[in-house]
Amino acid sequence: MLRPDKAGALELLRNAGCSNRVIKHCLTVADHAVQLAQNIRNNGHPVDVELIFIGAILHDIGRSVTHDIRHAVEGARIGREHGLNPSIIRIIETHIGAGIPEKEAQSMGLPQGNYMPVTFEEKIVAHADNMVDDDKIVTISEELDNLREKGMHESIIERTVELSIYIDEMMN
Ligand SMILES: [Fe+2]
Repeated sequence: MLRPDKAGALELLRNAGCSNRVIKHCLTVADHAVQLAQNIRNNGHPVDVELIFIGAILHDIGRSVTHDIRHAVEGARIGREHGLNPSIIRIIETHIGAGIPEKEAQSMGLPQGNYMPVTFEEKIVAHADNMVDDDKIVTISEELDNLREKGMHESIIERTVELSIYIDEMMN
């Protein structure tokens, strides 16, 4: 099972056809996720910082196919095709919003499955992604404003807040 290094992960993004803008976003999310992960680890919680870094670089690989919600599914598919480690695939698959439970995923037309982040690594990448707009770090309230502007369902906004509180608690 492939667990690429940084150069290998970037090569996968480029080979898949991700734009420079997406790649820049992925690197910004990866740096932010590592910062969060190091704080959480220093607070005594076991997190795999390297997995978070590589998973975050690859989280949007599916944007080479589509920018809609299905990019997580497409990303996971590309990951499987390359024999990526399942823990990386799961980071890709569960990073959308603050995760999407099975029933909601079904109503959104996603293939059957649970898209909720479970492990520290999955949760940290999903949260870091919420905190990065394009290649800029935003506050949680700015992110919530963005979600409301996009007309996101209240359940997505609630989960984004819950995940943010959870990550803050892990750091403090
Ligand atoms: Fe994404």
